[in-house]
Amino acid sequence: MERVYNFSAGPAVLPEAVLKQAAEELFIYKNTGMSVMEMSHRSQDFIDIITEAEANLRKLMNVPDNYKILFLQGGAHTQFSMVPLNLMKNKKADFLTTGSWAKKALKEAKKYLNVNEVCSSEDKMFSYIPNLDNLNFDPNADYVHICENNTIYGTKYNELPDTNGIDLVSDMSSCILSEPIDVNKYALIYAGAQKNIGPAGTTIVIIRKDLITKDYPDYTPLMLQYKTHADKDSMFNTPPTYGIYMCGLVFKHLLNNGGVEAIYEHNKEKAGLLYDYLDQSKLFKPTVEKKDRSLMNVTFNSGNEELNKKFISEAKENGLVNLKGHRSVGGMRASIYNAMPLNAVKALVAFMKKFEEENL
Ligand SMILES: Cc1ncc(COP(=O)(O)O)c(C=O)c1O
Repeated sequence: MERVYNFSAGPAVLPEAVLKQAAEELFIYKNTGMSVMEMSHRSQDFIDIITEAEANLRKLMNVPDNYKILFLQGGAHTQFSMVPLNLMKNKKADFLTTGSWAKKALKEAKKYLNVNEVCSSEDKMFSYIPNLDNLNFDPNADYVHICENNTIYGTKYNELPDTNGIDLVSDMSSCILSEPIDVNKYALIYAGAQKNIGPAGTTIVIIRKDLITKDYPDYTPLMLQYKTHADKDSMFNTPPTYGIYMCGLVFKHLLNNGGVEAIYEHNKEKAGLLYDYLDQSKLFKPTVEKKDRSLMNVTFNSGNEELNKKFISEAKENGLVNLKGHRSVGGMRASIYNAMPLNAVKALVAFMKKFEEENL
């Protein structure tokens, strides 16, 4: 069977070259005589894999020396708890609610801290990013939390809120490595790997080092303390070894293809193609405000449930799969992460044009 164009929101498409290399190395990795999956995480071969992966991510994102990179498990959801547990001093945090992931992060933090929702776009089904001017941040907040790309709704921040010096924490699960960012503007960045980086099972955390050294309340689980993992370079316990190896291959692939600057151009071209078509379509309508459009998750709707179903089903017959929108919003969503080739977006737009002609 041929590979399809997989527009899944995550786990999601990976670069073909990476999958092929992984297939070649699956049975015997280099001169080790074994698979990476079978390797001790304490072996020099694996230490080389994780060290190189970390160094390459540092290079790709220009991560300064005063930040630690961690490879953890538990997905972004675990970060919803780890962030408040580790960053609490005054036990207060400010949240910007721009979607259900942001909301879930707030709900989890509320177990440990006093949370303050400084703005929300729930009034219009999270179809925009609220105005970031004059937000009422608490000067004593331990941090401000944002979800930078809202996977379900298809919005993203095009500028960061000015937090008046309060530490900024960002959930970058669905946009990490999609465009250049200045890591210095953040205190902590986290992302599940399964969208833009690698298979599910690895979570990336980039944390400013001064936030690691702190006294924890007695009850804080050891595994939920950043210090536990930072002190042992992500090897406190058995890390997700194969996932880290795959992330490492993706990092190397990105570096070999011009890094984040190059992929950003590619991403703009892909998303531009799709949005340009949607802007003039008489059948499909983009569902979020133009200024807040995501480069990674493009949401649209025909406004007719039956027609949406027909579109999703016929697209699938044409090798364009996983275009159904999230169950909470309906409609369609094309997730076009870094690894999605331009040809896939061209094929999608061509199919949409044809569908429009046949069904309008
Ligand atoms: C922006 C964002 N945050 C958090 C999550 C939850 O991630 P996980 O399943 O890794 O806990 C997702 C998952 O799709 C997401 O898109």
